[in-house]
Amino acid sequence: MPTPITDPATALHQTQLLALAQHYQGPFWAYDAQIIRQQIAKLRQFDVIRFAQKSCSNTHILRLMREEGVKVDSVSVGELTRALQAGYQPQGNDIVFTADLLDREGLARVVELNVTVNTGSIDMLKQLAALSPGHRVWLRINPGFGHGHSQKTNTGGENSKHGIWYQQLPDALAVIHQAGLQLEGLHMHIGSGVDYQHLQQVCDAMVEQVLTSGCDLQAISAGGGLSTPYTFEEQEIDPAHYFSLWDQARQRIAAHLGHRVTLEIEPGRFLVAQSGVLVSEVRGTKWMGNRHFTLVDAGFSDLMRPAMYGSYHHISLMPADGSDASGRPPQQTLVAGPLCESGDVFTQLAGGEVEPRDLPQSQVGDYLVFHDTGAYGASMSSNYNSRPLIPEVLLDQGRAIEIRRRQTVDELLALEHAQPLNC
Ligand code: LLP
Repeated sequence: MPTPITDPATALHQTQLLALAQHYQGPFWAYDAQIIRQQIAKLRQFDVIRFAQKSCSNTHILRLMREEGVKVDSVSVGELTRALQAGYQPQGNDIVFTADLLDREGLARVVELNVTVNTGSIDMLKQLAALSPGHRVWLRINPGFGHGHSQKTNTGGENSKHGIWYQQLPDALAVIHQAGLQLEGLHMHIGSGVDYQHLQQVCDAMVEQVLTSGCDLQAISAGGGLSTPYTFEEQEIDPAHYFSLWDQARQRIAAHLGHRVTLEIEPGRFLVAQSGVLVSEVRGTKWMGNRHFTLVDAGFSDLMRPAMYGSYHHISLMPADGSDASGRPPQQTLVAGPLCESGDVFTQLAGGEVEPRDLPQSQVGDYLVFHDTGAYGASMSSNYNSRPLIPEVLLDQGRAIEIRRRQTVDELLALEHAQPLNC
């Protein structure tokens, strides 16, 4: 079994990452394909593993998923286009389009391609039915509660915009019936970072919805949200336990309906988080009174999670000369990026308070590696401060393949023109 690049104790990928850092002379993402395959293998008990591509949407990652038999969840025309480019088929079960609303382009495209839609509102159902009676749909149900690693990733309950409120399931079924839409299944995704307590609760809610609504369906989806460890103390959620609870729910539903029911799971983070690192170069160190800062060339425009949720990412030092970082004395330091914004600090808590980290002392030219950034890393990057998107590299069986080159400033500027409009 390969040693994950998320393990700072190993030097397995260090030589390769160092060579890449010297090649790029700027920050980049790297993913270990083998870790993705290992994570997929842990979920093979589910009938369908559907990758939530919002977590890492590079078409080459999607291609890897497809080759492993993993289906895909798309949430926008952009993601749909990526899925098609990776070889997924629009009709059938390959792609499910899950959205909170259908914008006009999205609606036109799912109808044109006949892509199955996971609907999050009754308006969505009506809009789809008006253009495409007979369309295959899922119903995303908000069971009235949710849970996430942060309030911002909790997707259930009254304060969440996601899904169809569970008490309105009969209304949604009536629209489906009237319009002749084809119901594939019920879907519940209550948030990112689901714990064991909420897991049982959501399984029970799914059973209750099916049993009390009188609907017939082919499949249920457990959504995503499986947590992965970001610190050495945290444990990965037990996939076997996850499966067994959902399988019991599926069996109760199947017994009630009198036929087999397919069980889907829709993870993003679980499949890719641990596969990825962000490599950045130390470009400065300084003291501000009693505070020590290490300044790196990646910012929250690249890795948004610490600034957005106060998320913790393990940071390790990769000395420029290839030496072992454990030989360096410790340094309590705040790690910050290049953006002109105070929140551009990677070592911060959810409220925005900064928190120094014990790291081996670094100097200009060394590299800091941000671990477990394969999910919601590159896919949440932006062009803030007019900084181009950085490269992505896939490491597979000793080979390094660039799967996205660095964006150029010219590409950013190319969108801007002075086009007179007749409005
Ligand atoms: N299915 C649906 C309908 C979703 O909305 C999501 C995530 C997933 C599946 C996959 O969830 P996962 O298994 O990755 O937890 N940017 C945040 C996470 C936001 C997730 C949004 N929806 C983060 O960096 O933690």
